[in-house]
Amino acid sequence: MRIIKTKNYDDMSQKASAQIMAQVNLKPNAVLGLATGSTPIGTYKCIVESFKNGFVDFSEIKTVNLDEYVGLDGNNDQSYRYFMNDNLFNHVNIDKNNTNVPNGMASDTAVEADRYEDLIEEIGGVDMQVLGMGLNGHIGFNEPTKIFDKRTREVDLAPSTIEANARFFASMDDVPKTALSMGISTIMKARKILLLVSGSAKADILYQACYGDITPDVPASILQLHPDVTVIADEDALATIAKNVK
Ligand code: F6R
Repeated sequence: MRIIKTKNYDDMSQKASAQIMAQVNLKPNAVLGLATGSTPIGTYKCIVESFKNGFVDFSEIKTVNLDEYVGLDGNNDQSYRYFMNDNLFNHVNIDKNNTNVPNGMASDTAVEADRYEDLIEEIGGVDMQVLGMGLNGHIGFNEPTKIFDKRTREVDLAPSTIEANARFFASMDDVPKTALSMGISTIMKARKILLLVSGSAKADILYQACYGDITPDVPASILQLHPDVTVIADEDALATIAKNVK
């Protein structure tokens, strides 16, 4: 695990976008695994800026997103498909047919989950997976649990996640209670992982994820076993690590 310390959120965003663009320039037909949430918004902004300046070409890139709320279709402005179009895909030269987000409107979520797993394999697996991390250490929507969840499936969102995500909805009741999420094994199969973390609220859980026991109680802790993880985090998020790791 490599940890890159950045001054603040903007610095984290710039450094993360540089890593993603290096991947795209190195392998123009790469498969990128992408995340939503507040953390990568600045990263996507930097990528769009660089695209406008001619520094990066997405014409052959394929993407797979980590997750989607069950019950929201892509036109709903809280869906993760909408988020990706709005923050990235609408502003770069990616072929939307090459962008994939689990279908939250699927009539059978188990069938949709299997289709998604198969699709990731068919397109050759993920070259670089971008991750954010929840306040409880979740990655994708793999919430703390007793055993690591493996494959893509429908998951119940933890009450703390529903509460954290309520900021994007009119009320807490409007937050979907389940989501389709890539599993821990799905994420761990990515050839490279980029974990982005910002803010003091995540300092303790980031310390546990990077230096604590590897436990399904802190789902991100499994990343300690991956051979190619880069954590890009700002000073605030790294505060507990700075205090405890010499
Ligand atoms: C998003 C995702 C989640 C978020 C996490 C952090 O696709 O899978 O794991 O990365 O909830 O969210 P933010 O960045 O909003 O703090």
